[in-house]
Amino acid sequence: MSDKVYNFGAGPAMLPEPVMAKIQQEWLNYQGMGVSVIEISHRSKEFVAILEEAQSLFRELTGLPENYKILFIHGGARMQFSALPLNLAGRKAGKRCLYFETGNFAKLASKDAKDFCHVEIAASRAETNYDRIPEYDPAIFTDDVSYVHITGNNTIYGTRWNKFPETGDVPLIADMTSEILSRKIDYSKFGVIYAGMQKNLGPSGMAMVIIREDLLGSAAKETPILLNYTQADADNSLTNTTNTFAIYTTKLVLEWLKEQSGVEAFEKRNEEKAARLYKVIDASDFYRGVAHPDHRSIMNLSFNLASEELEAKFLKEAGVIGLYALKGHRNVGGIRASIYNPMPMAGIEKLASFMGEFERNNS
Ligand SMILES: Cc1ncc(COP(=O)(O)O)c(C=O)c1O
Repeated sequence: MSDKVYNFGAGPAMLPEPVMAKIQQEWLNYQGMGVSVIEISHRSKEFVAILEEAQSLFRELTGLPENYKILFIHGGARMQFSALPLNLAGRKAGKRCLYFETGNFAKLASKDAKDFCHVEIAASRAETNYDRIPEYDPAIFTDDVSYVHITGNNTIYGTRWNKFPETGDVPLIADMTSEILSRKIDYSKFGVIYAGMQKNLGPSGMAMVIIREDLLGSAAKETPILLNYTQADADNSLTNTTNTFAIYTTKLVLEWLKEQSGVEAFEKRNEEKAARLYKVIDASDFYRGVAHPDHRSIMNLSFNLASEELEAKFLKEAGVIGLYALKGHRNVGGIRASIYNPMPMAGIEKLASFMGEFERNNS
């Protein structure tokens, strides 16, 4: 077994090493308080400072406009699949909500929403097993639609929206769980962006929800209080005892991102990392990429080999040299390399050279 392990898991995913070291260093004694950061009250001035610093770092790193609120909501991304229609479908009398079906999580988002609004599928690429983002007619974004939902990056199939739909006055909602902070985004084009925190932000179990303030105030009466975005905004995400550890870690990740020169620098680095691996995939037909080349993700790279036996051999040999968690999702099988912001170029080089060598030894 190799000493250095590179974690290619889709999530919970690797965190930056300096962040882990900082957590370890502060664990038993947070800033001279003599107690751990997970032992202090969520309403203490020290924790409120952590929460507000996380919000202000996110704003600074992304240029998020003033009229957007940053909320921390329980239950990860999936909980938002229900919270979104509960909070927003009632904006229009017909509760029509358009969903783009671009993969597994996009499908789950529309399935979970069905109990709370009239879901319509805007477009789907199910017929080619979600290997690309579907085409659509922008005339579907009519004034009586409450919102349009997309999944910015499809974690399982390894596709992403290169150009986001222009929805005019209809709020565009994006699940950015597997790509938040990986590329520069014009937030003003969106009504809501949300992300489960376990990939580019921090630990699992919570979501960051970024909402344009004029969209607050439309929640259905039956919305559970902890899923009500207006309530969360009024309480600065402290309606009840929040996951203090997740928010603390996210703050450290955002500090690290800032030290590393911000989102633009990461976008460039992420493109280089992905290009290095796609070059190996494209060099022959030994590796078969799942995503159509025009729709490829720079965060999740899914590919197959000629047989399941060969894929099992690949995973076994990769594991021995410290390339961890490369098994693809059960929907597509094969291999998936998740290369979020914290994955260093050294991990990419190690995987690329292993792929080259494995191909030479097995073709
Ligand atoms: C794009 C996307 N949406 C939603 C989810 C579900 O997130 P959670 O497990 O936090 O509910 C995931 C999980 O990987 C995801 O990748």
